[in-house]
Parts: sequence; structure tokens; C-alpha cells
Amino acid sequence: MRFGYFDDRNREYVITQPDTPLPWINYLGCQAYFGIISNTAGGYSFYRDARLRRLTRYRYNNAPFDFGGRYVYLRDRESGRFWSPSWQPTRHALEAYSCRHGMGYTVIGSTANGIEAHTRYFVPLDENLEVWQLTVTNRRQTKARISAFSSIEFCLWDAQDDATNFQRNFNTGQVEVEQGVIYHKTEYRERRNHFAYFACSEPLAGFDTQREAFLGRYRGWESPVAVEAGQLTNSFAHGWAPIGAHQVNLDLEPGETRQIVFLLGYHENPVDRKFDPPGSQTIDKSLVKPAIARYLDPGEADAAFERLRKYWDSLLGIFQVNTPDIHTNRMVNIWNAYQCMATFNMSRSASFYESGIGRGLGFRDSNQDLLGFVHMAPARARERILDLAATQLPTGGAYHQYQPLTKRGNNDIGGGFNDDPHWLIVGVSAYLKETGDWSILDEPVPYDNEPGSEQPLYEHLQRSFSYTLARLGPHGLPLIGRADWNDCLNLNCFSDTPGQSFQTTTNKDGKVAESVFIAGLFVHAGRELAAIASRRGLAAEAASYLAEAAKMESVIREHGWDGEWFLRAYDDFGAKIGSKECEEGKIFIESNGFCVLAGIGLEDGTALKAMDATGERLATKHGIVVQQPAYSRYYLNLGEISSYPPGYKENAGIFCHVNPWVMIAETRLGRGDRAHDYYSRINPSAREEISDLHRCEPYVYAQMIAGKDAPTFGEAKNSWLTGTAAWNYYAIAQWILGIRTTLDGLEIAPVIPTNWPGFTATRIFRGVTYNISIERQGEGNRIALTVDGAPVEGNIVAPPTDGRREVSIKGILS
Ligand code: BGC
Ligand code: NOJ
Repeated sequence: MRFGYFDDRNREYVITQPDTPLPWINYLGCQAYFGIISNTAGGYSFYRDARLRRLTRYRYNNAPFDFGGRYVYLRDRESGRFWSPSWQPTRHALEAYSCRHGMGYTVIGSTANGIEAHTRYFVPLDENLEVWQLTVTNRRQTKARISAFSSIEFCLWDAQDDATNFQRNFNTGQVEVEQGVIYHKTEYRERRNHFAYFACSEPLAGFDTQREAFLGRYRGWESPVAVEAGQLTNSFAHGWAPIGAHQVNLDLEPGETRQIVFLLGYHENPVDRKFDPPGSQTIDKSLVKPAIARYLDPGEADAAFERLRKYWDSLLGIFQVNTPDIHTNRMVNIWNAYQCMATFNMSRSASFYESGIGRGLGFRDSNQDLLGFVHMAPARARERILDLAATQLPTGGAYHQYQPLTKRGNNDIGGGFNDDPHWLIVGVSAYLKETGDWSILDEPVPYDNEPGSEQPLYEHLQRSFSYTLARLGPHGLPLIGRADWNDCLNLNCFSDTPGQSFQTTTNKDGKVAESVFIAGLFVHAGRELAAIASRRGLAAEAASYLAEAAKMESVIREHGWDGEWFLRAYDDFGAKIGSKECEEGKIFIESNGFCVLAGIGLEDGTALKAMDATGERLATKHGIVVQQPAYSRYYLNLGEISSYPPGYKENAGIFCHVNPWVMIAETRLGRGDRAHDYYSRINPSAREEISDLHRCEPYVYAQMIAGKDAPTFGEAKNSWLTGTAAWNYYAIAQWILGIRTTLDGLEIAPVIPTNWPGFTATRIFRGVTYNISIERQGEGNRIALTVDGAPVEGNIVAPPTDGRREVSIKGILS
């Protein structure tokens, strides 16, 4: 069952029924000002940091699920009837409801009582504000007298404090209203120099800024008393709950359309220009007024929208494909790339499943996100890399996350994850391959943000690598530390106290438990680093990385191989995890996927065995589960993984992030049919028809799909902010379609399904447009290339040296 459809030409998903199984959301903004918006206008806005600079309130885990948003009400002044064109919050029956989620914008609307109304929400490029363009059309045969109301609830900036510290916060709320613009200025009187504003393009029939005046006592957003009465009360918030609401009265002739623009924005004043007149307590608005005036003009708003569309045309234009599979095309050309931008911007910090309070930007997460993002905005990727590296510790280890506003690392959700440092090598390598910008390696970057500790970025990579060498366990495998990629395999935790965090509790000295997954990652990162070192002319150093990688590979063969697949780990007792000897958790996806991705066992048949075992034991029709058999009870020596009921999250759920490792591993074995089959099983577009089971958005990846041990097998959860986006993009683009960035140029190495006659693609790489056409003439993966008509040796196309900006590549697969 579907709840809408893809409009590929407009790059939109059109939701045609408001009561989707879960809120189906979109992101507004892609630089500094962000919003989350659901298909019924729920969500919230923030500037840079969802915790520290939250503009509007949102009620988590509410019933109904999605509450708090950018709500518009319409009221018929004749009948007194009122409703919300976005369905929530009043939930009246609507005709022709639709929500169009597009690239950085959302349009929601409907017809009710003969009045058609749509609101287009978006954030103009380079601005710290969001535009709501409400168009109202009278579809009646007679004149309509309508009032339109806007509404938002301000958050008192720190979202965590806002949701907990009521004894103070019920006293601090302050607003100003000037020329119809509502300014939210709580704490501006003291240490803040920022405020929010909510403006309207039309003359107001009223406004409200105190929640109780608007909603009325014991009422909620579904029936505000002031809307019901048809007249806002011009209330001023002193403490309690500041809101913003405007009222505009419209008299519409039959067929007449009117547009109202609302702006919600954020502004920072210079500290010495906070007040006007100086010494008063009134906000100096002179610097913000031009932006407000500009975007309240519908023509300017339209122009800003066009700029946003063009921006996305150019970003998505960097890589476009035409394959025989519509789901591949749609995800690669539109939605997967778009999701990579959202994961890059938010890392794991703010979605409907990440409250925006608990986590900042993850170190390993953000590094991996670069794989799917770097081609779209390399300058931003560069900045991110330098920010991440600046949170690295002198040991080479890393803070697990940092707060976006301060860029300071913290251990709030744990530290000492021993895989973390290697992802910096993976991220930097992806950047170098895409851009060829070797200067980044010479950038001075501090450790732990400590001024004076700056060293070239390259040294950070060296320390990342040595971190593991200094932390090897009894078998010579890397010690796992708090956990590796699988945050829930907590082998040093041993927590038996309710409520203790698995992510911060440690009861063991960490000298025994080892990870085969980190070993595979170390081999991979070591080879990437060796390639970088050798191009820097450091031949001996490169050789030493290769030697260490080779050594680790032999340790994996000796102590990390279980006979038919790769082991997962050794626990604190030195016992095997992910072995046929185990009762539960006999085989895991991570070590198998990553070791083969790293090229381990390709020559001696072990890689093949590992992938066959993974396919037989872990693959399901909804994707590949983390491990089998699922843990049926809590194991003290394993930690959080066994805290989840079987089939959910890390306990044998389908963690979509790691599925692409197996897809890539399959391409390394040359098995394109299997690789693409795995790709399709979790491709959200390919799952659209089962939206009632899948439940999450059919246009973006979710973190997890319930595994076969769960009663809800096939149900997705935690959509949007997942490393799945980057890894799937990377797997399909660079390994299955095989258009791969390398340090030396663009490699063309498709491993596509045998029944595909071929495909075409356009890739802009280092300023050159490559028009690629692949034709299948046999069933294998051998490729013969011609570049601009001339046959070439090998399959790496170096950037042209003669100034050509367009290159045509033809590949024959046999
Ligand atoms: C989740 C993990 C997550 C970790 C750290 C756990 O509860 O299961 O997926 O990475 O928390 O925040
Ligand atoms: C989600 C976390 O963001 C990521 O860092 C981790 O690798 C996975 N969960 C698996 O535990």
C-alpha cells in the first residue's frame, strides 16, 4: 500500500493522505538555519545547533506522535468554521490534501469548505530565515470572508533547559511587537545577542504572543480559543510560553487568489549594538529589517525559491545515471544524494528520532558521511574534515562527538571507541580522491582544540593509524575499547545496574576484548594511508603501512577466521563472538562485510565463503540482519546489543548502514547480481509498495528495518540521519555502477546485474564532465574503454591535461 507517489520530474515525493503511518518528514535549509517539517506541518527550527539555538518548540513522543509545528488555520468569518489546510492540528476532513516534499522545500495544502490553501515552506540560500508562502484561493461561487492565522511556539533557546527548567523559564519569556513583526527576545536582556522574529506581509487584524491567550485554558493547538472566536487578542508574553501568531482577514471574490508571506528568522546583533536607543532595553532592529522587508515581498520570495531550485539542479547534476532500474535511478539521481546532504548537515543530531538534545555530530558518523557528500560540496567537506580532526586527541583517539555550535568534542555519550580514528583516514582519502586537493594534508590542525598543538592534518592520520598499533590485544587483533562501529557490542561494560548507560559504563580494563571488525578496518585504512604516503613521496613510510596491513591480515587469517566466515570479536574472557561455537550470535555482518570490502581473502577463497555464509545465514527479503541467531536474553559480557529484543536495532535488526559493505564485498567478488539484489532489498523506493509495512518515508533510508526475529519484520525505524545514506550512495555509485574516484582519476569498473544491457551516466569530476556509456556484450565484468573515441589501457581515466572540459567514455563489458 502506498500513501503517495514519486514525482521524479519535479524531484518531489507527493503524499496524498495526511495520516501516514509515521510523520514523513523533510529538511528545510542546508547551510546554517535548519528546519524539520512533517507532512502535516509538524517540526521545529534551529540555527546551527538543535540543542543550543532552538527557535521553536516541538513535543517529542507525543500522542499524536507529531505535535508542535508551523501551523496555519483558516476560519470562515460567516460560518465560524475553522480548519488547518495541513490537516494537523485540527484534523478536519480535507479534500485534495497533498504534501510535496522537494529538495529543501515542502508544500502542504488542501481544499476545505470551498477554500483552497497551500503553504510553501523553504529557507532561502545564505539566509537565516524560513519563508512560508501561503496562497489562498476562493473556489466557491460566492464571495468568501476568511481569516488566516499563523502560529508557532518559541523555544527558549536551549532545548534541553527549555524542556526541564520550568521554575525559571516560566518567568523569563519576553517579546516585542513592532509594525506587525513579533520579536522573541528571551534572555536578550542579559547575555544573549540573538533573537528570533516572526513577520507577516499583510496588515494584521491581530496578533498573539502569549500561549494561553491564543489557546485558552485547558485547550490545545487543535482548538485555539482565539481562532474559534475569530479574533486574536494582541497579547504580550511576560514569562510563561511566548508564541507567535498573526491574523490576516481576506475577502476573496470567486476564483480570487491571495498570497500571504510569513517569515520566521534568527538574527544576531553585534554585542555593542544590541539596543536602540543604546542604554534602553529595546532591540536594535536596524540590521535585521532589510532581510525582513526583502523576503516579505512575494516576488523576492519566489526569486529565492528559484535560486534554491537551481542550487539543487547543480548539486544533483554532478552525478546522474540512467539504468534499467527506476529505483536505482530515482535514488541515485535525487533522493539518496539529497539525504546525503541532510546526514552531512545534521550528522546524527536532529530528526524525529534524534531529539536534537542528546547528541552532537558523531566523529565516525561524520567521517563516513563524507563518502556520499564530498562530490557535492568539497569546500564544506574540507571544513568538516578540519573540524573533526581538531577534536582528535593527542593519543590519536577521538572524542566520539562534538557540539556543532562550539565545535568542541565531548564524551557525553562515551569515548574510547577504538574504530573512531580510522574513519578520519577513510574520510580524508575520499576527499583527496574526489578533489585532488593535496594541500589539505598540510593544514595545521590542533589536537583537542588546544591552541598551540597544531600539526599538519597528515600527522593526524599518522596518529590515527598508530593508535591501533599501540592497542593490540592477546591475539594481536585491535582491542575494541568501549565498542567499535557497533556501539552496542560493549565488551568491557559489564553493567548490571538499571539505568546505567551502556555507552559510558566501563567495568573492565579493556586489555582483552578484541575486534575483528576493527582489524578489517585497519587493513583498509592502512592501505589507503599507504597510497597517500607514497604520493607524498614517503616510500618507506608507505611500505611500513602496507607491512602492518599485511601483518594484520595474517592475524585475521589465523585468529579471525572461523572456518566458514570471519569471527566478530573476542570478549573479555578471550572467548569467541560470532563463531559456530557460540550458541547465539554465531555470525555477524560487520566483520564479514568489512574484511571482504578491504580485500581480505579474495585470493584464497575465504572471502567467497564468508559472503556465501552471510547470504545464507543473514540475508532476508527485507535486507541483511546484523547477526544470527539473535540474542534471546541479556548477556553481561556483551552489553547493549543483548538489551534489545530479538530483531531490533543491533540485536539482529537489519542495520541498513552495514548492508552496503556486503554489496561492495560482492562487487569485489564480481557478483553484480547479488550486489544489486541486496541493494534493492533496502532501497526505499523499491519498498514503496509496502509502505504500510515499512512505515517510514519511501524516499529516504531508515537506520534500521526490523529483522526476521521481530514480530514486526520489515518495519523501518529511525529514518533520515543514518550512515546508510552515504554508504548506499557510495556502494551503488562507486562499486555497482563502478564509477569510482581514485587518487589518479576516474576509474570505470561496473559490476552490474547480468541482465542489464548497460547504462549511461554523467559525472562531473574535478571540473570535467564525463559522459559515460556502458554496454554489456558478455556476462562478465571485464571492461574495455574508449575515451573520446580512442581505446585506452586499463580502466582509470586520468583528468585531461589539454584543457578539455568534456570527455566521453565508452565501456564494453564482456
Ligand atoms: C543505539 C546505537 C547508537 C548508540 C549511541 C544505542 O542506544 O542502539 O545505534 O549508536 O546508542 O548513541
Ligand atoms: C548509530 C551510530 O550513530 C553509529 O555511530 C553506530 O555505528 C551505529 N549506530 C551502530 O551501532
